[in-house]
Amino acid sequence: PAPTPQYRPAYHFSPAAHWMNDPNGMVYYQGTYHLFFQYYPEAMVWGPMHWGHATSPDMVTWKEQPIALYPDSLGYIFSGSAVVDANNTSGFGKNGQVPLVAIFTHHNPKEEKKGTNKHQNQSLAYSLDAGKTWTKYDKNPVLKNPGIQDFRDPKVIWYEAGKKWVMTLATKDRITFYSSPNLKDWSKESEFGQKLGAHGGVWECPDLFPLTLNGKTHWVLIVNLNPGGPNGGSGTQYFVGNFDGKTFTPASTDTKWADYGPDDYAGVTWSNTGNRRLFLGWMSNWEYANQVPTSPWRNATTAPRELALQQVGSQMYLTSQPVKELAKIAQPGTTLKNITVPKQYDLSAKVKNAGDKFQLKLSAAQLATYSLVLSNSKGEELVIGYDKKANQYYIDRTKAGQSGFSSKFAGRHTAPRLATTPQTNLTLLFDASSVELFADQGLTVMSELFFPTQILDKMTLRSEGNFAVRELSYANLAAEVK
Ligand code: FRU
Repeated sequence: PAPTPQYRPAYHFSPAAHWMNDPNGMVYYQGTYHLFFQYYPEAMVWGPMHWGHATSPDMVTWKEQPIALYPDSLGYIFSGSAVVDANNTSGFGKNGQVPLVAIFTHHNPKEEKKGTNKHQNQSLAYSLDAGKTWTKYDKNPVLKNPGIQDFRDPKVIWYEAGKKWVMTLATKDRITFYSSPNLKDWSKESEFGQKLGAHGGVWECPDLFPLTLNGKTHWVLIVNLNPGGPNGGSGTQYFVGNFDGKTFTPASTDTKWADYGPDDYAGVTWSNTGNRRLFLGWMSNWEYANQVPTSPWRNATTAPRELALQQVGSQMYLTSQPVKELAKIAQPGTTLKNITVPKQYDLSAKVKNAGDKFQLKLSAAQLATYSLVLSNSKGEELVIGYDKKANQYYIDRTKAGQSGFSSKFAGRHTAPRLATTPQTNLTLLFDASSVELFADQGLTVMSELFFPTQILDKMTLRSEGNFAVRELSYANLAAEVK
């Protein structure tokens, strides 16, 4: 197929060429956000996994770096995390240099063929030059597989109350917690979730972290799963509860989703970011990630999001909002106040210099059924809206362009509105071939890809004739395209 540079995102990371999936080893150190990622540098489809590497001062402008980890005799380099070992508990530090330590899964394809269920083991690598180059530990693996088919994606945190490292590991249909004084010797603490949450697929890429709400600390456990997501295929569920260094106890057994759209998977949070909890996912879905019509690369990350907790009724929910750093790349735009949207309102006529990489914010004092339609002269359209009767947000990409590459791609996807206030607000982030919806201060989130064959240059607001918009703002987002 012909190259399709128009699908290249500007402020979401995508590799210059070839395949990427999960974000890995996200760690902030000395002013730099490190993003490693599942990378296959020889093709535009999944293959023997490496850790690619990119760095950013702000999570919005990215620079791709040389590959950090290559496959070796123990296997491919699957997903995992990285920490700053400030106290040099690992002993990897030399001459006072603080080690960054990556904890990842070695996936051994030869062992896998033997069917012993011991092909996934946890290993270490460390960096003594602030993340630039990495050395694998010579006694890998550090956590051996007891015979569990899916035994992977270690996410490690420093648990200050117990002065120890805690590893959250995806172990097929549950999470297993381990702890260690030095990142090398691991003891099993407990298991969670075999009979809780969504189990439409295998559990992968977990994360565990504290968040404060009204002065009280709660623990959030993120569990990605594939398939079994809320709109089919890959999805990200989470639990809110308590963690005592050994056991995670959920406050509620309801299944909750961090993102309802089809295209946010394997997301976890950065380590070493102080009081900010920053999340980023892979903006795709295993149902069609190997087929999407981009070239010479395949797949990108979601926008970085800041997480918080919010209480609604008896439930605590995770909220995700685009990070404030996005404001750095927002161009002067258009703000419209107090419009009553008739059946059709031609928004493109009001917005100066509209492009395909922008943010659109809307707030209203009262809920009403409405939609935003992006379309082009070929009759392609992407519809994003709120349906008051169903109390749902939705994104419909059925007619938004190319979809023939997978029967799973076209469709209308929905998400419940969780907020109970009459006021509502929406932030939409567009980046060439994706839209991310953050509704009601980030209580309902949807990420969605789309591939128009021509730019969707017409924007129309639709309502039943009674939608009073308090404020609507449009701004192009301009980050350098690599
Ligand atoms: C999730 C995942 C992980 C695994 C990696 C392999 O998308 O399947 O569980 O470590 O991708 O690339």
